[in-house]
Amino acid sequence: MGYVFKIKPALRTWAIEYAIRDIVEASKEAKKLGKDLIYLNIGDPVQYGFTTPPEVVESACKALKKNFNSYSDSVGIAPAIEAIKNYARKRGIEPVDVYITQGTSEAIEFAISALVNPGENILLPCPCYPLYQAIIAKFGIEPRFYYLEEEKNWEPRIEDVEELIDEKTKAIVIISPNNPTGAVYSREVLEQIIEIAKRHNLVIFSDEIYDQLVLDSDKKNISIASLSRDVVVVTFNGLSKCYFAPGFRIGWGIVSGPEEVVKDYVEAIHKLARARLCAPHPLQFAIPKALNGKNTYVKKVIHLLKKRRDLIVEGLNQIPYISCVKPEGAFYAFPRLHIEGISDLDFVKRLILEEGVVVVHGSGFGQKPGTKHFRIVFLPEEKVLEEALERIEKFVKRLVR
Ligand SMILES: Cc1ncc(COP(=O)(O)O)c(C=O)c1O
Repeated sequence: MGYVFKIKPALRTWAIEYAIRDIVEASKEAKKLGKDLIYLNIGDPVQYGFTTPPEVVESACKALKKNFNSYSDSVGIAPAIEAIKNYARKRGIEPVDVYITQGTSEAIEFAISALVNPGENILLPCPCYPLYQAIIAKFGIEPRFYYLEEEKNWEPRIEDVEELIDEKTKAIVIISPNNPTGAVYSREVLEQIIEIAKRHNLVIFSDEIYDQLVLDSDKKNISIASLSRDVVVVTFNGLSKCYFAPGFRIGWGIVSGPEEVVKDYVEAIHKLARARLCAPHPLQFAIPKALNGKNTYVKKVIHLLKKRRDLIVEGLNQIPYISCVKPEGAFYAFPRLHIEGISDLDFVKRLILEEGVVVVHGSGFGQKPGTKHFRIVFLPEEKVLEEALERIEKFVKRLVR
């Protein structure tokens, strides 16, 4: 006798969506139809031909061969923690604690789940990298969105932030350089966020996973934790983007702020770390090699990305009914659609099915009511981007005919 009922998934999974992967389903359908697909949907530089620096690979291989294949200390190996602390200090952060995790994603999950109870809330940017919504849905936490303003190069609308706060607000998330908009926040905006956090006892979660990928030489990514010693910040980073090793699954969180204030919180994060044993042990040996080196490769990549960014922004702005703010960092643009009568999701699905250009719909990240966007990755070579632009233009012209 087999099972009588279907296995019912838990309620906590119902609200979890991850648009970036969901679009993969639409592209599978297009592939079945024989479409030649151009993938501009996934923020994985390795899938576009960029390579992990050889010395970083070598250090992990060496550790594997030397049989560092046991569990490690739950928060990470000492030389890696030391390297992260030094990296943080060079950016003006005074770290109180560092914990190493299975990708930056796990660092984010630990920081949120160690702080926020079900029914409490967190301030999230809109649009936002969807992992944050997925984590907080899982833990029964309420998202409260503050808008990023397209007219101001996608910097946060600070005036709105304070109105969203009540006694159940525990933290504010910022992402700079930003996914999906590519914005790099100014010092003024960061200082305003610090003031708000101090006034309302909020923890700042600062996602800086794209910190070295600032494309314009007159811009610099500022770590918010470097601007104040009295505010509590958890700064997230890892090897996935700036060291081109997303498959290593190595990330970390850096807790900073007054030591007495964060003591119990740090212990709570460590408890979560102990419960899941450790991050991949041999791969942690790549951290000192990566962070103590000069990362000359990322500089070459920036040079390439800048050209690709310019091409995609200029190209998109020449297509009727599309406008695009220039991203200053990371490898994403978040162009706006000015077309009536079609949702952003339907636009993207049809673009995939009819032209084979795979991008992600803006509503998967969140967008201001009344606006429609899509996210496009500009990691591929110029000729691929040119082909994608031609196909998008063809599609838009057909759509508005
Ligand atoms: C803003 C942001 N944070 C975190 C992550 C997740 O990083 P990891 O692959 O290290 O878990 C990503 C991945 O795309 C991201 O864009």
